[in-house]
Amino acid sequence: MRTQVAIIGGGPSGLLLSQLLHLQGIDTVVLERKTKDYVLGRIRAGVLEIGLVNQMRAAGVAERMDKEGIIHHGTVISYGDDQIGINFSDHVDATVMVYGQTEVTRDLYAAREAMNGKIVFDVEGVQINDADTDAPYVTYTVDGSEQRLDCDYVAGCDGFHGVSRQTIPAETRREYEKVYPFGWLGILSETPPVHDELIYASSDIGFALCSMRNANLSRYYVQCDLSDKVENWSDAAFWDALKRRIPEEHADNLITGPSIEKSIAPLRSFVSEPMKWGRLFLCGDAAHIVPPTGAKGLNTAASDVHYLSQALIKFYDNGDQAGIDGYSAKALARVWKAERFSWWMTSLLHRFPGQSDFDFKMQQAEVAFLKDNANAQAVLAQNYVGLPY
Ligand code: APR
Ligand code: PHB
Repeated sequence: MRTQVAIIGGGPSGLLLSQLLHLQGIDTVVLERKTKDYVLGRIRAGVLEIGLVNQMRAAGVAERMDKEGIIHHGTVISYGDDQIGINFSDHVDATVMVYGQTEVTRDLYAAREAMNGKIVFDVEGVQINDADTDAPYVTYTVDGSEQRLDCDYVAGCDGFHGVSRQTIPAETRREYEKVYPFGWLGILSETPPVHDELIYASSDIGFALCSMRNANLSRYYVQCDLSDKVENWSDAAFWDALKRRIPEEHADNLITGPSIEKSIAPLRSFVSEPMKWGRLFLCGDAAHIVPPTGAKGLNTAASDVHYLSQALIKFYDNGDQAGIDGYSAKALARVWKAERFSWWMTSLLHRFPGQSDFDFKMQQAEVAFLKDNANAQAVLAQNYVGLPY
């Protein structure tokens, strides 16, 4: 087979890239190692920056998002019973959209199918060959038969555990990582959200987050030990832990119920440079991971897709190579700012094992400054709604 851009990975990055390029007449083939149902079975975050919202609209995939998504004009940072309302419109002319990543991915699959987009599921042994030449090609096996896909470019959208990043020679790659000494235990429950905005709660016994999917589907997280196991947590234990971490007025209003999903996610900051090697580009989790505290995972993947799609569209339109040559530097510049914000939110709002009293005082002083200082709140708002592309 031959295509213009071979895309490894059928997650939100690969699908959005494929859709945006198809709309400009650029041919792509998406190779996904799992089934569609498996990909859609993964519960992920759900706060969309304006940049991603606009890309979904540009990709013609926004109808359900605009109908079912919830526009948020602010968020709450709580510290014990203290609450700091961050009102975005006081500081920036932007909002965020609360709409599950799973729904974003579902809408992208529907759009690809409606346009007869080429997606090959259940591929095995994907190998990217000759990416450092003018004639790269990808080999893989499907249904036991070996396949070859010739292409002009390869987009590695295959996540942290994918093959794409590993294709870049180790001596060329520079990796930066910070692993946090705690995880997030999250549940999904068919209960009304405790508040109409997200609450990022810091307490003496650790972090908690109150989020939602819709008026009767809530998503809650509590900080837990990395060694913890889901089976150690009954629903009752979860609700109790959550109540003891959020402001009393919200704890009193919290409607609890059986969890329909429960999982533990580790927290890590990770960046791999460069994000381009020859004719191979990396997008999203294939190149970088953020802790979920800043809701930047999907949104930073989307900014990568923005820069790469723009670069490829210009190249196929008039041979302009500048975007392609500048992709890695441009994408990384925004990635590192998202990494900083996610690290800052994580460092501010979690309790670290063995944390010194001085460190604790620093957290308290930072929150006190945030509470009283409009400029500090503006900085949080600007980063939360999404820095410009
Ligand atoms: N061959 C083919 N497909 C692969 C391979 C491979 N070797 N390795 C991984 N994949 C597929 C995975 O099955 C997955 O569906 O690539 C896809 C990568 O999707 P994601 O992990 O969702 O990554 P991305 O599309 O970049 O989305 C980033 O996902 O994890 C969240 O927080 C993250 O929100 C961010 C978003
Ligand atoms: C979620 O809704 O799952 C969610 C929201 C915001 C975050 C992380 C997760 O920062």
